[in-house]
Amino acid sequence: GSILDIALAAGIEIDHACGGVCACSTCHAVVREGEETLSEMSDAEEDQLSFAPGLTPFSRLSCQSVANGTPNLVVWIPDWNRNLAREAH
Ligand code: FES
Repeated sequence: GSILDIALAAGIEIDHACGGVCACSTCHAVVREGEETLSEMSDAEEDQLSFAPGLTPFSRLSCQSVANGTPNLVVWIPDWNRNLAREAH
């Protein structure tokens, strides 16, 4: 699944205002390792990502980045993209 799917399944709440349909940039994540294990960035993802605060050369939209299942993927979720209220549940 996507980084967003994997995070949510692990109880890590990443903001995803549009519900994961590539219509916002709230699910911004930064890939630290294993970028090559993710699906390629589409033009739509690149367009939406350009609006993300704190953009880096390793930024992705977590809802659009699908992991191929290899274990060497390390992702940083910017603090402002984590919904702390939901994590408390
Ligand atoms: Fe909106 Fe990912 S949740 S683009």
